[in-house]
Amino acid sequence: MHKVRTTLTRRLAATLTALPLLIPAVGTAALAGASVAAAPSAAAAPDGQAALPPMGFNNWNSTHCRADFNEAMVKGIADLFVSKGLKAAGYRYVNLDDCWALPSRNASGDLVADPVRFPHGIKAVADYVHGKGLKFGIYTSAGTKTCNTAGFPGGLGHERQDANLFASFGVDYLKYDNCNNQGVDAKKRYTDMANALRDTGRPIVFSLCDWGESKAWEWAAPIGHLWRTTGDISDNWSSMIDIAHENQPLAPYAGPGHWNDPDMLEVGNGGMTAAEYRTHFTLWSMMSAPLLIGTDLRKASAETFKILSNRDMIAVDQDPLGKQGTVVANDGGLVVMAKELKNGDRAVSLTNETGTTATISTTMDALGIGNSGPYRLKDLWTKAVSTNRSGTISASVPAHATVAYRITPGRAPLPPAGTSHLSDLPWTGMVNGWGPVEKDRSNGERAAGDGRALTINGTVYPKGLGAHAVSRITYHLGARCTGLTVDVGVDDESGPGGAVVFRIYRDTTKVADSGVLTTSDPARTLTADLTGARTLTLVVTPGGNNIDHDHADWATPRLTCI
Ligand code: GLA
Repeated sequence: MHKVRTTLTRRLAATLTALPLLIPAVGTAALAGASVAAAPSAAAAPDGQAALPPMGFNNWNSTHCRADFNEAMVKGIADLFVSKGLKAAGYRYVNLDDCWALPSRNASGDLVADPVRFPHGIKAVADYVHGKGLKFGIYTSAGTKTCNTAGFPGGLGHERQDANLFASFGVDYLKYDNCNNQGVDAKKRYTDMANALRDTGRPIVFSLCDWGESKAWEWAAPIGHLWRTTGDISDNWSSMIDIAHENQPLAPYAGPGHWNDPDMLEVGNGGMTAAEYRTHFTLWSMMSAPLLIGTDLRKASAETFKILSNRDMIAVDQDPLGKQGTVVANDGGLVVMAKELKNGDRAVSLTNETGTTATISTTMDALGIGNSGPYRLKDLWTKAVSTNRSGTISASVPAHATVAYRITPGRAPLPPAGTSHLSDLPWTGMVNGWGPVEKDRSNGERAAGDGRALTINGTVYPKGLGAHAVSRITYHLGARCTGLTVDVGVDDESGPGGAVVFRIYRDTTKVADSGVLTTSDPARTLTADLTGARTLTLVVTPGGNNIDHDHADWATPRLTCI
C-alpha cells in the first residue's frame, strides 16, 4: 500500500520501532488513559542523579567569552536565584561555560582559573554558590582544547586529574564539550570522563555536549545524565525552532536520569519577541529539556523573569513521570504537542510556526485522553481555567506564538455488565502508528474512518479494532471485568511483509502475547484473564523491520464484565 507521510512522523516511527517493547503506563496515568509508553528499557537513572531535567544557569548564551563572564556575574546570578524566587521555582545549578581557565595548565598539569575573571579561584565561587543552597557546574571539552579560539586546555587524556580537580572545587555538574577531539571515538572519550567522575566519589551530573554527532541518545544513558542533540542555539526564531524540530523525534530516548538536551535557553537575550520566547520556553518544557537560563539576570526585564518563573510551565518540564512530549500533529507549521503527566493529566501545546495568525485545533482523542470528559483546562500562560465538554480544543494563535494547556480528565465511564465488543466501548487512551485506531474497520493510516473491512487471511470480521504498529489502546475497567477473547492478525491490506506482535496487559502485567504474526498467518485467538484489572491495555509492536506494512487487527474482541 502506498504511503505518504511527513519526514517527522517517519522519523518518530523509526525511533519508536527501535525500542524493545511498549509497556503500559502505571497508576493513575493508566487509569486516565495514557499515551504511548515508549521508554527505552534502561529507564531508571543509573546513579539516581538528574531524576528531573536539570534547571539552572549557564553564562554562555549571554556572554560567550567576553570579559563580563567573571566572578561578579556568577555571584550576582546566585544572589538573584534566591532574591527573585528562581531557586524556589526549582532553578538549582549555576554553571560556568568555556573561558574560565588560563590557556595553559600549571607545572602539576592542573587547570588554572583565569585570575582576572576569577581572582579568588573557582573553589571560592563554588563555595559562594553552595552557601546559597545552590549547586555549581563547570565546563571543559573532550578534546585537547576547548571550543573557544583562544584555546583553553581540554580534558582528553587528563580525565582523572581534571575530574579530581573539579571534585576538589566542589563541582556538582560537568558540561563536557566536543572540540579538538582528535578523532577519538566519542563513546571512549565520554566514558573515560564518566568513569573518572564516578571514581571521585562526588555526585556530579554529567552533561555530554557532542552536538548530536555520535547520537549519544542511543548509547549514553548508562554513563551520562543529558546529551546535546543538536548544534548550538542562536538567539533567533529560526535557530530555536529548527532545534526544536531536531529534538522532538527523540522523545523515546529521554527519561529520568537521561535527558535530551536541545541546548540552553535564549529567553531574555533580545533576539526574539516575547511571544517567541514563550514558545521557546513552552517547547523546551514540553520536551522535558534541561532549563538552563542563558541570559544575564542582572539586566533582565520583568517580562524575562515572568517567562522563566512560570511555575505551571516548569511543572510540565519537571513532571516526575519524566516523559518527553511528542508531536501529535503538524499541519503546515501548526504544531500540536502532547505530554503525558504523572497524575494522568496531559499538557498540550499549540504552536503557530507560520507568519500569520491561525486557528489550531486538536481533540482529546488525539491527545490520548478521549472519552474521559468533562475536562478541566488551565491555560498555562494566561492562567485562565475552563471546562471542556466537547472534547475539541481550538485556539487562535498569533504568528510564532504558542497556546498551552494542562488538561485534567474527568472520570472514565465503566464498561457495561455482560459481553461487549471493545469496538463498541470508549477507550480512555489511544496512540497509534499512523492515523487513529479505527472501530470496525482496518487502519487507513491517515484520518478517522478511512479504513476498509477488517480482513485477516481472507476472513472478514465485522467487529474489531484496526490498528497500526506502534499502537497502544487503553480501557478503564474499574475491576469489573473477567476476561477478553480476541482474534488477532495482520490485516490483508498490509500486503506481503507485514509482521507484528500483539500483547494484552492487565494493569501492568502481560497476560497474553501472540508472538510474531505475519501477513500469511491465519488469525490467532488470544484469551486474557482480566479479573481485578483496573485497566486493559492492547499493545501492537512491529515484528520485523518493514514498519510500513504493520496493519494489525484486533478482530471480534469480546470483553466480559460483571
Ligand atoms: C560549543 C558548545 C557551546 C559552548 C561553546 C564554548 O560550541 O556547544 O554550548 O559551550 O562551545 O566555546
